[in-house]
Amino acid sequence: MTELILSLDVLDRQRARAIAESCAPFIDAIKVGYPLVLSTGLSIAGDLAELGLPLIADFKVADIPNTNRLICEAVFAAGFDAVIAHGFVGADAARTCVEVAHSHSGEAYIVAEMSHPGATEFFHGGVAERLAALAVASGADGIIAPATRPDRVRELREIVGKRKIYSPGVGAQGGDPDVVARLVDGIIVGRSIYEAEDPAAEAERLSRIRR
Ligand code: C5P
Repeated sequence: MTELILSLDVLDRQRARAIAESCAPFIDAIKVGYPLVLSTGLSIAGDLAELGLPLIADFKVADIPNTNRLICEAVFAAGFDAVIAHGFVGADAARTCVEVAHSHSGEAYIVAEMSHPGATEFFHGGVAERLAALAVASGADGIIAPATRPDRVRELREIVGKRKIYSPGVGAQGGDPDVVARLVDGIIVGRSIYEAEDPAAEAERLSRIRR
Protein backbone atom coordinates (compact mmCIF):
# COMPACT_ATOMS: atom_id res chain seq x y z
CA MET A 1 0.00 0.00 0.00
CA THR A 2 1.22 3.50 -0.80
CA GLU A 3 2.55 5.19 2.31
CA LEU A 4 1.38 8.58 3.52
CA ILE A 5 4.27 10.68 4.83
CA LEU A 6 3.55 13.86 6.77
CA SER A 7 5.91 16.71 5.92
CA LEU A 8 5.99 18.54 9.23
CA ASP A 9 7.19 22.00 8.11
CA VAL A 10 5.90 23.98 11.07
CA LEU A 11 8.10 26.11 13.28
CA ASP A 12 6.74 25.57 16.75
CA ARG A 13 7.60 22.53 18.85
CA GLN A 14 4.23 22.24 20.58
CA ARG A 15 2.33 22.67 17.32
CA ALA A 16 4.57 20.11 15.62
CA ARG A 17 3.97 17.62 18.40
CA ALA A 18 0.22 18.22 18.46
CA ILE A 19 -0.18 17.84 14.69
CA ALA A 20 2.01 14.75 14.55
CA GLU A 21 0.16 13.14 17.45
CA SER A 22 -3.29 13.79 15.98
CA CYS A 23 -2.25 12.53 12.52
CA ALA A 24 -0.27 9.53 13.77
CA PRO A 25 -3.06 6.95 13.31
CA PHE A 26 -3.36 7.84 9.61
CA ILE A 27 0.26 8.28 8.51
CA ASP A 28 3.20 5.94 7.93
CA ALA A 29 6.14 8.29 8.58
CA ILE A 30 7.03 11.87 9.43
CA LYS A 31 9.41 13.97 7.34
CA VAL A 32 11.26 16.72 9.18
CA GLY A 33 13.26 19.38 7.37
CA TYR A 34 15.19 22.55 8.03
CA PRO A 35 12.20 24.73 9.00
CA LEU A 36 11.36 22.62 12.06
CA VAL A 37 14.88 21.56 13.04
CA LEU A 38 16.30 25.09 12.75
CA SER A 39 13.45 26.32 14.95
CA THR A 40 13.53 23.65 17.60
CA GLY A 41 16.89 21.89 17.33
CA LEU A 42 17.58 18.26 16.52
CA SER A 43 15.95 17.25 19.81
CA ILE A 44 12.58 17.45 18.04
CA ALA A 45 13.46 14.01 16.67
CA GLY A 46 13.38 12.61 20.20
CA ASP A 47 9.96 14.16 20.83
CA LEU A 48 8.50 12.77 17.61
CA ALA A 49 10.11 9.36 18.06
CA GLU A 50 7.74 8.81 20.99
CA LEU A 51 4.96 8.31 18.41
CA GLY A 52 6.72 5.20 17.09
CA LEU A 53 6.65 6.28 13.44
CA PRO A 54 9.71 6.32 11.16
CA LEU A 55 11.34 9.76 11.00
CA ILE A 56 12.84 11.01 7.75
CA ALA A 57 15.40 13.82 7.85
CA ASP A 58 14.88 15.95 4.75
CA PHE A 59 18.19 17.80 4.87
CA LYS A 60 18.93 17.33 1.16
CA VAL A 61 22.51 16.68 2.16
CA ALA A 62 24.86 18.02 -0.53
CA ASP A 63 28.48 18.34 0.53
CA ILE A 64 31.83 16.58 0.22
CA PRO A 65 31.88 12.99 1.46
CA ASN A 66 33.45 13.80 4.83
CA THR A 67 30.95 16.55 5.64
CA ASN A 68 28.09 14.36 4.41
CA ARG A 69 29.29 11.66 6.78
CA LEU A 70 29.38 14.06 9.74
CA ILE A 71 25.89 15.38 8.91
CA CYS A 72 24.41 11.89 8.51
CA GLU A 73 26.02 10.61 11.71
CA ALA A 74 24.37 13.51 13.57
CA VAL A 75 21.04 12.75 11.90
CA PHE A 76 21.01 9.10 12.96
CA ALA A 77 22.40 9.86 16.44
CA ALA A 78 19.44 12.21 16.91
CA GLY A 79 17.01 9.34 16.28
CA PHE A 80 16.09 9.67 12.62
CA ASP A 81 15.46 6.52 10.58
CA ALA A 82 16.17 7.88 7.10
CA VAL A 83 17.92 10.76 5.39
CA ILE A 84 17.34 12.53 2.08
CA ALA A 85 20.44 13.58 0.16
CA HIS A 86 21.25 15.22 -3.15
CA GLY A 87 23.02 13.22 -5.82
CA PHE A 88 24.38 16.07 -7.95
CA VAL A 89 27.42 16.36 -5.68
CA GLY A 90 28.60 13.04 -7.10
CA ALA A 91 28.45 9.33 -6.46
CA ASP A 92 31.13 9.35 -3.76
CA ALA A 93 29.27 11.94 -1.68
CA ALA A 94 25.88 10.27 -2.15
CA ARG A 95 27.34 6.85 -1.36
CA THR A 96 28.67 8.20 1.93
CA CYS A 97 25.12 9.09 3.00
CA VAL A 98 23.93 5.62 2.02
CA GLU A 99 26.77 3.95 3.93
CA VAL A 100 26.14 5.93 7.10
CA ALA A 101 22.39 5.27 6.87
CA HIS A 102 22.88 1.54 6.40
CA SER A 103 25.45 1.36 9.20
CA HIS A 104 22.64 2.59 11.48
CA SER A 105 20.10 0.20 9.91
CA GLY A 106 18.52 3.28 8.37
CA GLU A 107 17.64 4.32 4.86
CA ALA A 108 18.88 6.95 2.41
CA TYR A 109 16.96 8.56 -0.44
CA ILE A 110 18.40 10.58 -3.30
CA VAL A 111 16.57 13.53 -4.84
CA ALA A 112 16.08 12.74 -8.54
CA GLU A 113 13.87 15.70 -9.38
CA MET A 114 12.32 18.49 -7.34
CA SER A 115 8.61 19.26 -7.50
CA HIS A 116 8.47 23.06 -7.95
CA PRO A 117 8.17 24.79 -11.36
CA GLY A 118 11.80 25.98 -11.39
CA ALA A 119 13.04 22.41 -11.05
CA THR A 120 12.72 21.93 -14.80
CA GLU A 121 15.55 24.44 -15.30
CA PHE A 122 18.29 22.06 -14.20
CA PHE A 123 16.72 18.65 -13.59
CA HIS A 124 15.33 18.18 -17.10
CA GLY A 125 17.40 17.22 -20.11
CA GLY A 126 18.67 13.96 -18.67
CA VAL A 127 19.90 15.10 -15.25
CA ALA A 128 17.08 13.53 -13.22
CA GLU A 129 17.56 10.25 -15.09
CA ARG A 130 21.28 10.31 -14.24
CA LEU A 131 20.49 11.05 -10.59
CA ALA A 132 18.05 8.15 -10.47
CA ALA A 133 20.70 5.86 -11.97
CA LEU A 134 23.22 7.18 -9.45
CA ALA A 135 20.78 6.39 -6.64
CA VAL A 136 20.55 2.79 -7.85
CA ALA A 137 24.32 2.47 -8.31
CA SER A 138 24.94 3.95 -4.84
CA GLY A 139 22.68 1.41 -3.19
CA ALA A 140 20.20 4.06 -2.06
CA ASP A 141 16.85 2.83 -0.82
CA GLY A 142 14.98 5.02 -3.25
CA ILE A 143 14.52 8.39 -4.86
CA ILE A 144 12.46 11.52 -4.42
CA ALA A 145 10.42 12.39 -7.52
CA PRO A 146 7.77 15.05 -8.19
CA ALA A 147 4.06 14.42 -7.62
CA THR A 148 3.55 17.51 -9.74
CA ARG A 149 4.80 15.62 -12.85
CA PRO A 150 3.38 12.06 -12.91
CA ASP A 151 4.87 11.46 -16.38
CA ARG A 152 8.33 12.11 -14.98
CA VAL A 153 7.62 9.72 -12.13
CA ARG A 154 6.72 7.05 -14.68
CA GLU A 155 9.98 7.66 -16.55
CA LEU A 156 12.07 7.57 -13.40
CA ARG A 157 10.34 4.34 -12.30
CA GLU A 158 11.79 2.71 -15.42
CA ILE A 159 15.25 3.47 -14.03
CA VAL A 160 14.82 2.64 -10.34
CA GLY A 161 12.65 -0.46 -10.75
CA LYS A 162 11.53 -1.81 -7.39
CA ARG A 163 13.43 0.77 -5.34
CA LYS A 164 11.13 3.14 -3.52
CA ILE A 165 9.86 6.41 -4.93
CA TYR A 166 8.67 8.98 -2.42
CA SER A 167 6.83 11.85 -3.97
CA PRO A 168 6.25 15.36 -2.60
CA GLY A 169 4.16 18.04 -4.27
CA VAL A 170 0.69 16.70 -3.53
CA GLY A 171 -2.01 19.28 -2.77
CA ALA A 172 -0.45 22.70 -2.12
CA GLN A 173 1.92 22.37 -5.10
CA GLY A 174 -0.85 20.98 -7.32
CA GLY A 175 -0.06 17.24 -7.44
CA ASP A 176 -3.13 14.98 -7.57
CA PRO A 177 -2.89 12.29 -4.88
CA ASP A 178 -5.27 9.99 -6.79
CA VAL A 179 -2.95 9.95 -9.78
CA VAL A 180 0.42 9.83 -8.09
CA ALA A 181 -0.46 7.33 -5.36
CA ARG A 182 -0.73 4.63 -8.05
CA LEU A 183 2.81 5.31 -9.23
CA VAL A 184 4.86 5.66 -6.08
CA ASP A 185 5.62 3.98 -2.78
CA GLY A 186 4.80 7.00 -0.68
CA ILE A 187 3.23 10.43 -1.07
CA ILE A 188 4.72 13.24 1.00
CA VAL A 189 2.16 15.82 2.10
CA GLY A 190 2.81 18.99 4.07
CA ARG A 191 0.62 22.08 3.87
CA SER A 192 -2.55 20.24 2.79
CA ILE A 193 -2.43 18.49 6.14
CA TYR A 194 -0.81 20.85 8.64
CA GLU A 195 -2.64 23.96 7.36
CA ALA A 196 -6.01 22.20 7.28
CA GLU A 197 -8.60 23.24 9.84
CA ASP A 198 -8.52 19.63 11.05
CA PRO A 199 -5.13 18.09 10.14
CA ALA A 200 -6.10 14.64 11.40
CA ALA A 201 -9.26 14.60 9.26
CA GLU A 202 -7.25 15.60 6.18
CA ALA A 203 -4.65 12.92 6.94
CA GLU A 204 -7.43 10.37 7.30
CA ARG A 205 -8.98 11.47 4.00
CA LEU A 206 -5.61 11.14 2.23
CA SER A 207 -4.93 7.79 3.88
CA ARG A 208 -8.09 6.43 2.26
CA ILE A 209 -6.84 7.09 -1.27
CA ARG A 210 -3.76 4.97 -0.68
CA ARG A 211 -3.77 1.78 -2.68
O1 C5P B 1 3.63 21.66 1.80
P1 C5P B 1 4.01 20.68 0.75
O2 C5P B 1 3.11 19.48 0.69
O3 C5P B 1 4.21 21.31 -0.61
O4 C5P B 1 5.45 20.14 1.25
C1 C5P B 1 6.31 19.38 0.44
C2 C5P B 1 7.56 19.04 1.22
O5 C5P B 1 8.41 18.23 0.42
C3 C5P B 1 8.40 20.23 1.62
O6 C5P B 1 9.03 19.91 2.85
C4 C5P B 1 9.43 20.35 0.54
O7 C5P B 1 10.62 20.95 1.00
C5 C5P B 1 9.66 18.88 0.21
N1 C5P B 1 10.15 18.57 -1.13
C6 C5P B 1 9.49 18.95 -2.27
N2 C5P B 1 9.99 18.58 -3.50
C7 C5P B 1 11.11 17.84 -3.59
C8 C5P B 1 11.78 17.43 -2.43
C9 C5P B 1 11.27 17.80 -1.20
O8 C5P B 1 8.44 19.61 -2.20
N3 C5P B 1 11.52 17.40 -4.74
